[in-house]
Amino acid sequence: MSTSLKINGKTMTVKAEPDTPLLWVIRDEVGLTGTKFGCGMALCGACTVHLDGQPVRSCQTPLSAAAGKSVNTIESLSRNNTHPLQKAWIAHDVPQCGYCQSGQLMSAAALLKANKNPSDADIDAAMSGNICRCGTYSRIKAAIKTAAAEMNKA
Ligand code: FES
Ligand code: FES
Repeated sequence: MSTSLKINGKTMTVKAEPDTPLLWVIRDEVGLTGTKFGCGMALCGACTVHLDGQPVRSCQTPLSAAAGKSVNTIESLSRNNTHPLQKAWIAHDVPQCGYCQSGQLMSAAALLKANKNPSDADIDAAMSGNICRCGTYSRIKAAIKTAAAEMNKA
């Protein structure tokens, strides 16, 4: 069976079964490996992508739920690290092992789309489902604030 969906702006048809986790479609069928597998149980946030603009855990989202919809992965932020969040992540030297960071960035991107000037509490609420075993939380928060300031200047 085939399913049509849009990934990073490109309409494509994939052949996976409808109950295949979107994460495996993105990584194995489409070959976009920026989205990571962590827990596989919607607990860590490593696999976060946007589905019609909303952050979702792609490990627990079946392909059928994305049919006809728009999926955006970490690769869609920018091709050359020029998205304000990517620039802020570099400026604050956020990643440690890096494994959780793609999901962190996608949750942060969804937050800044919905709220251009998030408070500490807003950031805590939006990012609470993204776990970092390296404990980079304070740098993530600082980088989100820097990116928000940069986006509000533009
Ligand atoms: S891998 Fe999806 S939430 Fe952990
Ligand atoms: S940077 Fe290592 S898990 Fe977050």
